[in-house]
Amino acid sequence: MSEQLSTTFLTGSTGFLGHFILRDLLQRGRRVVAMLRSPLGESSRRLAAMLRRIGVDMGAMIERDRLLLVEGSMPDGLPRCEWGPTHEIVSCAASLQLLSNGNQEPYRTNIDGVCRLIEWADRHEVTRIHAVSTAYVCGWPTGEIPETFHEIEPHFQTDYERSKWVAESFLAQWGRQNSNVLTIYRPSFLVGDTVSGYTTQFNGFYQLARMISLMKEQYGGVEDNGLTYVPLRLPGRADDRQNFVPVDFAAAIVAACVNKPALQGRIYHLTDPTPPTNGQLKSWFEEYFGLHGGRFIDQDVVNGERSSAESLLWEQYELIVPRVCRDFEFISANTAAAAAVSGLEYPTLTRKRMFSLLDYAASARWGQRANRLIA
Ligand SMILES: NC(=O)c1ccc[n+]([C@@H]2O[C@H](COP(=O)([O-])OP(=O)(O)OC[C@H]3O[C@@H](n4cnc5c(N)ncnc54)[C@H](OP(=O)(O)O)[C@@H]3O)[C@@H](O)[C@H]2O)c1
Repeated sequence: MSEQLSTTFLTGSTGFLGHFILRDLLQRGRRVVAMLRSPLGESSRRLAAMLRRIGVDMGAMIERDRLLLVEGSMPDGLPRCEWGPTHEIVSCAASLQLLSNGNQEPYRTNIDGVCRLIEWADRHEVTRIHAVSTAYVCGWPTGEIPETFHEIEPHFQTDYERSKWVAESFLAQWGRQNSNVLTIYRPSFLVGDTVSGYTTQFNGFYQLARMISLMKEQYGGVEDNGLTYVPLRLPGRADDRQNFVPVDFAAAIVAACVNKPALQGRIYHLTDPTPPTNGQLKSWFEEYFGLHGGRFIDQDVVNGERSSAESLLWEQYELIVPRVCRDFEFISANTAAAAAVSGLEYPTLTRKRMFSLLDYAASARWGQRANRLIA
């Protein structure tokens, strides 16, 4: 590999966010060593297909010594560093399994994995770590959430959130030592690319959209006004806000910070500064799918008796109901400052953008087609 370019060791590049970060790091002229899980051949083919979809010729990058693919996994299979000095680590790999089920995840990857990565950094004299966490390490508070560590363990709804909070606390200890520089990125819910709506992940927002599309098919006929009436009580208040962040914006901030040392050593909320309200989302969903009949009610009422349509929707969403029903605001001043100096602007989620996300997801049959294409 060439001597002059800075080398970034990246985990999680076959993931939704990771492949956008990889693209942006390469575009910013960094040399990237991407750790892929075994078998390397299969992971490399998958990554090549994902990168092609977002305009990167992986083969050309490898040929020009800009990209090196190495096999490894967390916690125990981190690679031997045979590519020369590593300037920084971008830790993006994670288990997104929400609840532990006996397979040791999400703790094994998210806590043990991060701890091994910290040891790996120390062994290889890497003093800069960029770690992707989640905005929901704050648990379920109300009010303003600052871009600081949450020192006292919050109440968590899922093992995943707790695992990311514990990982942050180990990273924070490392960040306080010697000349180490720690930068943490906390996305809210990642959604597809700002322009095309492209996504490789169809959880959360997309599952909800899919459920709504199923309701359109299952409940009631089309009325004279062209709409389908689905009476549905929705837990939450119309004025509460939901936070989604486009994957390309999140990746662009990470790459900008990797490239500019002055932006490092902070926590970044990769969150929407003016998130849509539940009321807006409801009206966009209803317009997109040609429905009406939804109304917001108190959460406790929905926990009681449900219609079949309500069961279809909310049994899937037990875990996120508390999020939907809380009103809190992520402070994102650090992200706004990094965006400003990097010439980036937060792409507000408008009706048009939301429709483009839904168009892409529907064309990919809510994940089935995308998975087939990539495999
Ligand atoms: N998606 C969201 O809405 C969201 C929201 C907030 C924060 N985040 C955070 O953003 C980061 C990226 O998430 P994502 O949505 O891109 O996840 P993703 O699509 O599920 O990708 C996860 C990546 O981690 C790799 N990985 C998982 N377990 C591993 C292990 N034990 N060893 C090595 N690699 C492993 C996966 O490799 P394989 O491809 O081989 O499985 C994949 O590359 C994570 O840190 C996540 O916690 C995500």
